[in-house]
Amino acid sequence: MLPEDILETIANECELKVWPKEDIPVPRKVLEKEIQDVDGVLTLLTENIDAELIEKAPKLKIISNMAVGYNNIDVEEATKKGVLVTNTPGILTETTADLTFALLMMTARRLEEASQFLRQGKWKTWSPMLLTGQDIYGATIGIIGMGRIGEAVAKRAKGFDMKILYYNRSPKPDVEEKYAAQFCELEDLLAESDYVCILTPYTPETHNLIGKRELTLMKKTGILINTARGGIVDEKALYEALVNQEIYAAGLDVFEEEPIPLDHPLLKLPNCITLPHIGSATIKTRRGMAQLAAENLLQRLKGGQPPHCVNPHVLKLESKK
Ligand code: NAP
Ligand code: GLV
Repeated sequence: MLPEDILETIANECELKVWPKEDIPVPRKVLEKEIQDVDGVLTLLTENIDAELIEKAPKLKIISNMAVGYNNIDVEEATKKGVLVTNTPGILTETTADLTFALLMMTARRLEEASQFLRQGKWKTWSPMLLTGQDIYGATIGIIGMGRIGEAVAKRAKGFDMKILYYNRSPKPDVEEKYAAQFCELEDLLAESDYVCILTPYTPETHNLIGKRELTLMKKTGILINTARGGIVDEKALYEALVNQEIYAAGLDVFEEEPIPLDHPLLKLPNCITLPHIGSATIKTRRGMAQLAAENLLQRLKGGQPPHCVNPHVLKLESKK
């Protein structure tokens, strides 16, 4: 649930209905019923706001998503219906970059395995090759998606004296200058990087961007880090690559299906570090995201222009009327 004081801010301005359960997302049936009569919804990334649902909401003016990613929303359909879609960019950039780097370090230095090793009473003596991993300082990092979070990861990588390669839809000369980052084709990035970090949005173009062919191009000592969205990586191909030691390890914060089923093969691999989608999970950042999502929602309901519109075209059309 959102923090109480932020719910109160919303409730002071409009009639508010809240899904009260922390541990289960709002069921589709409830959403289908409730959306019929509302002017706005504040959604989480667990809600699939598709065309069918938007069709059921004749009064809807805004879908305010409490996330920067909005692949859970059919933006095209919302735009057709004049429904504004907003998100929460920027506020979570540094926090998500911290987690991306933490996951990279955790995976490279086998921290989870090492901690379990100690707790399970297996630590008998200091031994030369015990729990050895990969170096981070001075290694090459390849960033796929040099946007806000990608750049924040590059900033951290520079502090580790890493060589920075990146692949992006468009070149970023300012990032190249600031962090000595080099733009390269995806194939070259995969072949040359010790760490490959995925930070693009999830779209039809990035669906399974990293599959069998791409994993084969990576170094045998290479490490894949995904803190963007699960569907960008073909999980079956990743499992094969990890089991066959075609790559060294993977660190994943996101999955095709969330929560990832407990019997998923990836969860059985010691060289696959898995986290429950906590990229932006600090108290300060989650509060900031909630505040921004509330602000987006209320601005729209009051007839203003929310700060972060995904489909500002809707506003342009309205101003012409
Ligand atoms: P952003 O600033 O929009 O950056 C995305 C970058 O990806 C942009 O530079 C964009 O290129 C590039 N890109 C888009 N499509 C591409 C394609 N087909 N091929 C190559 N590059 C492409 O977004 P952000 O704020 O950094 O967030 C990135 C994503 O991280 C979000 O969409 C979200 O899914 C994920 N995320 C996850 C967590 C978590 O909890 N794990 C937290 C926050 C965000 P251009 O510069 O040319 O537009
Ligand atoms: C989290 O995954 C986000 O997109 O904000």
